[in-house]
Formats: sequence, C-alpha cells, structure tokens
Amino acid sequence: MRWPKGLDGLCYGGDYNPEQWPEEVWHEDVRLMREAGVNLVSLGVFSWARLEPAEGVHDFGWLDRVLDLLHEGGIRVNLATPTASPPPWFSLAHPDALTVTAGGSRLTHGSRDTYCVAAPPYRAACARIARALAERYADHPALAMWHVHNEYGTWCHCDHVAAAFRAWLRRRHGALEALNDAWTTAFWSQHYSAWEQVMPPRATQYLPNPSQVLDFRRFLSDEMLDHFREQKAILRELTPDVPVTTNFVFGDWVPVDQWKWAQEVDLVAIDHYPGENPPEETAFAADLARGWARGRPWLLMEQAVVTYTGPRMVAKRPGEITRLSLSHVARGSRGVMFFQWRASRGGAELWHNGMVPHAGPDSRIFREIRDLGALLPTLAEACEAPVTATAAILWDTEAGWALQSPGFPSTEVNYLDAVRQAHRVLYRHGVTADMVHPSADLSSYDLVIVPSLYLVSDETAAGLRRYAETGPGTLLVSFLSGIADEHARIRLGGYPGALRDLLGIRVEEFHPIGDPVTLDTGDTASVWTEHVHLAGAEALARYPDGTPAITRHGRALYLSTRLDDDAYARLLGLGPAVTVETVRRGDRLFVINHGDEEREIPGSLLLPPGGYAVVGIPGGSPAIPPSETM
Ligand code: GLA
Repeated sequence: MRWPKGLDGLCYGGDYNPEQWPEEVWHEDVRLMREAGVNLVSLGVFSWARLEPAEGVHDFGWLDRVLDLLHEGGIRVNLATPTASPPPWFSLAHPDALTVTAGGSRLTHGSRDTYCVAAPPYRAACARIARALAERYADHPALAMWHVHNEYGTWCHCDHVAAAFRAWLRRRHGALEALNDAWTTAFWSQHYSAWEQVMPPRATQYLPNPSQVLDFRRFLSDEMLDHFREQKAILRELTPDVPVTTNFVFGDWVPVDQWKWAQEVDLVAIDHYPGENPPEETAFAADLARGWARGRPWLLMEQAVVTYTGPRMVAKRPGEITRLSLSHVARGSRGVMFFQWRASRGGAELWHNGMVPHAGPDSRIFREIRDLGALLPTLAEACEAPVTATAAILWDTEAGWALQSPGFPSTEVNYLDAVRQAHRVLYRHGVTADMVHPSADLSSYDLVIVPSLYLVSDETAAGLRRYAETGPGTLLVSFLSGIADEHARIRLGGYPGALRDLLGIRVEEFHPIGDPVTLDTGDTASVWTEHVHLAGAEALARYPDGTPAITRHGRALYLSTRLDDDAYARLLGLGPAVTVETVRRGDRLFVINHGDEEREIPGSLLLPPGGYAVVGIPGGSPAIPPSETM
C-alpha cells in the first residue's frame, strides 16, 4: 500500500467535474470545499474530449487553472486518466476501437465506456494521454494520487478481442489439445483443430461452452489489467512517488478478478451504491474492500447522497450519509469520497445528485456534508488500529463466475446471494467478518464460512481440511461448494468432489425446488436440496424423506440447502441479534445506530435514533461522545 504523501488522516471529497461549469463556479466550488473540509478531489475522470479536442492537440490551460485553484485552497488532487470515455473524434477515426456486443452489434459513441480494451488504436491513445498528463503535472504540488480509468468492466467481442483472447489462451493452455481437453470440446463437435477457430463467446444458437465463458472472463480481467498496468508504468516512470489506483465496482457482470488486481494497485479503492438495505450492503462492501486490500487501508472512492431502491433513486435520509460513511471508515476506509461534488445541470447523470445539490449549499444535504467534513478528522486516531474480525467468509471471484455456468440446474442459485447471506447473518448478530481469499491463512478465526464455492482447487480443499482438523473453530460449507475443478469440469464420484472426505458425506443427486420444504428441526429449506449420504458425518437436520439436510463431521458443518437467516444464525450458534452496528478497532468500538429507537451501548451510554459513537474498551468511556439525534 502506498498512501499519498502529505495527505494525513482521513481524506474527504469526491469526483470533481469542473469542465461542466463556467470558471466563476470553480471559485465558489473551492470556497465551499474548504467550508466542507474537503481535502481531496478526483479530477478529470471524463475529461478526455476537453483535454484533447483533436488528435494530438492538447488543451491543458483550463486544468492548469483548476489545479492551481485547488492548490491555493489546500485541496489535493486524485488526478484521473480519462480513458473510460474516448472523445467522439476518436471513435469516428477508429471505428474498430468501438465495443462489439456478443450479438455482433458495434456500439457507437454517445454514452461512455464505448471502447474495446484490446484495440491497438485505443491502447495507443490511452498511453499517449496518460503520458501527456503525467508530463504536465508531475511536479504540480496538488497532485496526490493517480486515478487510472474508471470502473473497469466493459465487455467486447470484436476481432481484436478474438486475437487477444487466442494469445491469452495459448499462454494459459500451451497446446491446443490442452484447451480442447480443458473445455471438453469433444462434446457437441466443438473440437478445435487450429487456434484461429477459437472465438470469444459470441451469440450462438444454444448454450455456450461453460469453460470457454469462464476463460473469457478471466481473459477480460487480465486484458483490462494489462491496460491498467500500461498506464501505471507510464505514471510510475514520470511520478515515482505518486500512488496509482483505480476504482473497483463489483457485481455479477463485472469481469474483474479483484484479488489479482488488488496486488497491482497501490491502494484498493471501491465505489459503492447500496440499494434496498444500505447498512448491511455497506458493511458487506466495506469488508470486501478490506479483504481485497488484505487488511491494509483502502478507500471508499465513490458513494452517493442517494440510494437506488428498485425503480427509485431516493435521497438518503437525514444522517444516513454520515452513518454509512462511518460504517465504511470503521471497516477500514481511509476516507470518504462521493460521486460527485456538484450535481450536474445536464448530461447523462443530471439526476444523480451531488455533495452540492441542485438546490445549492443552502440545503439539508450540503449541511450534512459540511458536518461530516468536520467529524472525520476527529476519527483519525481511532482508525489507526486494525479492524478486529473473528469470522472469515471465503470469497472467490472465479468461483462466482463459474457458478453462472450456462445450463445450470437452477436459475435461482446465485453466488453473491449466498455470500451476502453469510455476511448479513453475521452482521445482524454483531460478528465482524473478514472476506478472505480461498488461500488465506484461516488459523486465527473462530468461524469460517464457505458459501457456494463451486470451483475449488486442490490447495483450497487442503487448506479447508487443515482448518477443520486443527483450526480453532467451526467450518460451515454450504451447498454447491467443491463441485468443479479450475476448468469448471465436475469432480466425479459424488458431490462435493473436493470436500467429500472433509465433510464426511457423499451427495448423489441435486434437487432444486420451487416450493420450500420443512426440515425435521422445523426450519424451512428453499431453492436447493440434495440427496446426501452420510460417510462419517452425523445428520443435524433431515428432509421430509428422512435423508440428511445438514450434517456435522468433527468441526465441519455442511448445509445442503438454503435456510432463512434466523435458522442460519441458529445453526452457527450465534448470540442474539444486535440492534446497533459495532466494529472493533484495537481498544475502540465504533457504534452506529441505524435504527429509529434509542439504544443502550457499551459503557451504559444511550445512543439516540440514528446516532453514533466511538467508545473505549473496556472502560466504555466515549472517545467520540454519542452524537445527537440525526
Ligand atoms: C459510478 C461511476 C461514476 C458515476 C456513478 C454514479 O460509480 O464511476 O462515474 O457514473 O457511478 O452513477
């Protein structure tokens, strides 16, 4: 991890897109930023057309003035390379660098992210603009950090991608016959007799090959990572002391293996936009970011002053911006950043809102932004100790991709849902979890949960066995773990192939279900059931036909179905549900009351509805006294 020099404590700010505004607004912006305690802005994320109005013609004058103004105001800059949105002139000059969908449509400019990451003209243009920016601003005192690109995740299926995919496959598989074997191309007459025959998974008549789809995601992740590395090398050459990062976004569709990427960025940064249940989703995202950062500090690079709930974009309730920000900070973020500083008056995201909303600074939102800016510096000391977590949840991006296998027996099974449930149950019972890579050292955890880890290597299986045999706590493995090898081929002889011995069971058949069934414990089982045979384990719960549903083998539990959250918590023997969010950092406890009722917290203190506090342990003396009702 590298942290920007001279940026002490927590950082605070957001994406700043001044090119949308006349210059007089910039002066008001800096004045308001100072009033709000902003010390860092992400600048130029989508400024390519303004910075390079025609090929090779640069206009840096306006950006010089913005950087100088910010510097005069004591605000540092997280300067972006603008490569996520090539200008129209570029797309017209290089139509081969536009995105092609799986169905073969070539997209056109008019939005953003409409590029092919493997297209040579795009790569060359990205390298040029990154170099031009670094040459221009290497010595600017406002420069704190580089923000490469934005939310990598664009899929493309064009001929450039096909060529790059083949080159990647040659490196991965070596011989074509090895690829044929890994992809089981003997089925459906898919055998390849020349590399040129291998394609990206473009639209095809019926089910695509699951191993091909999985390899394609791995390829896209690596190809985008190469694009990041190219820019990073240029920035490093010209500004060796300035950290380089990019903002991760995650979701089922994102072809980015964050574990791999986290080793390449100087600082893990995430964007987070919660939906239906902001506190739980925030805790999950923050724990995941801390996991990718392997316990080192990370940064919440973007959040909004609104939430997206189903069909609606809703302003966060009074105090909610603060509470969710505190949750990120408590869970390891070295600051709080937003998209964006000032709400746009036009353009595609005019309704997304900002730290300065359309109503201007005389608004509830800006007042809360200002108060949060005053609060954050008081938390810096409490954030020095690492987060204490007693449980671990295994997270593996590739396993999640593999579980999206075409033709899977149930469309209702979802990796993210399984992982989120594990996290949510712990969260609701006051247990802080680390999200860990399957190869992580598990020996310090009281509890390890392996939710639906479909694809498992032999090493991961060995690590889990080690934990079950010698680790201090309970191992819970849930359905659809240990099923496939690295090529998404089934491990034969009974499920869950890689984990049968460890769990002392053998699963003969899968039975996805529509209507829930009741187990002999009275708990409800839904979505997925299995025909489990005991092979050393004992049954803790049985299906109506008497076959085992939940088993125990030593310290290893196996859950062959989806339980509701309460039953899940009972299975883990968790204590009562908690009413406030707590996160321990050394001898401090962050406490956040997301609810509508007053709560008593450690130290016999009362936390008002929507309030928060940082208390000392074990004395319970308030380091940051309980806030007033928010
Ligand atoms: C993402 C992007 C931003 C903006 C926000 C809000 O996080 O990085 O550019 O689009 O979403 O929608």
